[in-house]
Amino acid sequence: MTFTETLGIQHPIIQAPMAGVTTPEFVAAAAEAGVLGSIGAGYLSAEATRDFIHEVKKLTDKPFAVNLFVPENTDIDQDQLRQAYLGLQPIGKKLGMPFWKAPLSEQSFAGQIDVIIEEDVGICSFTFGLPDESTVQKLKEHNIYLIGTATSVEEAVVAEQVGMDAVVAQGKEAGGHRGSFLGEQLLPLAELLPSIVGAVGIPVIAAGGIANREHLILQLSRGAQAVQIGTALLAADESGAHPLYKEAVLKATGNCTVLTKAFSGKPARGIRNEFIDRMVNVPIAPYPYQNDLTKKIRSEAAKLGKPGFMSLWAGENVHETVVGTVEEIIKKFI
Ligand SMILES: Cc1cc2nc3c(=O)[nH]c(=O)nc-3n(C[C@H](O)[C@H](O)[C@H](O)COP(=O)(O)O)c2cc1C
Repeated sequence: MTFTETLGIQHPIIQAPMAGVTTPEFVAAAAEAGVLGSIGAGYLSAEATRDFIHEVKKLTDKPFAVNLFVPENTDIDQDQLRQAYLGLQPIGKKLGMPFWKAPLSEQSFAGQIDVIIEEDVGICSFTFGLPDESTVQKLKEHNIYLIGTATSVEEAVVAEQVGMDAVVAQGKEAGGHRGSFLGEQLLPLAELLPSIVGAVGIPVIAAGGIANREHLILQLSRGAQAVQIGTALLAADESGAHPLYKEAVLKATGNCTVLTKAFSGKPARGIRNEFIDRMVNVPIAPYPYQNDLTKKIRSEAAKLGKPGFMSLWAGENVHETVVGTVEEIIKKFI
């Protein structure tokens, strides 16, 4: 069976799960276009994940995946948290909120796993780590196809060892958060992909900077079974990205992205803006605490129409992103 047959799709393309950007219409449009749609459920509660799945099912009967953030247990002391809050205060003041509440997010991973099983979702992908043995076993008992994310050969090997059926090789070019879980890795896809293909026996999916048909063909020739594309779909009609975010993506020029921990405490690639520049040399709390601290800043910036303080996640080839429906954009890759 070919990889596309295994996933039940027509073309070797996965619409990247993009937490906060994917909408039911976006995922269903990808599925209807013959590629694997993926719900970016990382920030959702279990019930919101269920509702999202229901919405997608209303729009398509094609297969789709749900993507989860594997939780980490990061300790932080109150002083570190306070320093990070104080570090953000000048930006808060600039947005008219000298003080704001930053409730800590709750973990929903275990509940989301149950929802995926109950809703009979056939494919589940992970980032920021790998599920533990009992979770893998539980999902496998229900014949759910599992996809891990790796930013190094070591992570890909571990993904295979714990029972992932396939692995995404995420190159340094990729937009959004790095999926790294065994140290911070930053390898270009051209180097990472062949190394992972040579080291594991499971199918490898190439991700990072894939912006056109030539890029797709190149990655397949390097041994990828499929590609995962995120940034190229950001400005699609069905994308849930804020209009100012879409505008920034469409105006982007070459070399405009940087890696930053300033928004979430975890390295992520986005369009460089005032927030990122102001946060250089400012104390940053580890993920997920920094993410919780900046949540109100990001939503207030969006409300006030200030993209300079929003997280504008995008990959290195963001300047190639175009407008259109998901279907029209995907057609350009086929
Ligand atoms: C806005 C945005 C949000 C993302 N959110 C997620 C996510 O929730 N889960 C995940 O596994 N990857 C996420 N990613 C990373 C993608 O899976 C993928 O690695 C990346 O989009 C590939 O690079 P490209 O953006 O250059 O196509 C995100 C990427 C972007 C651009």
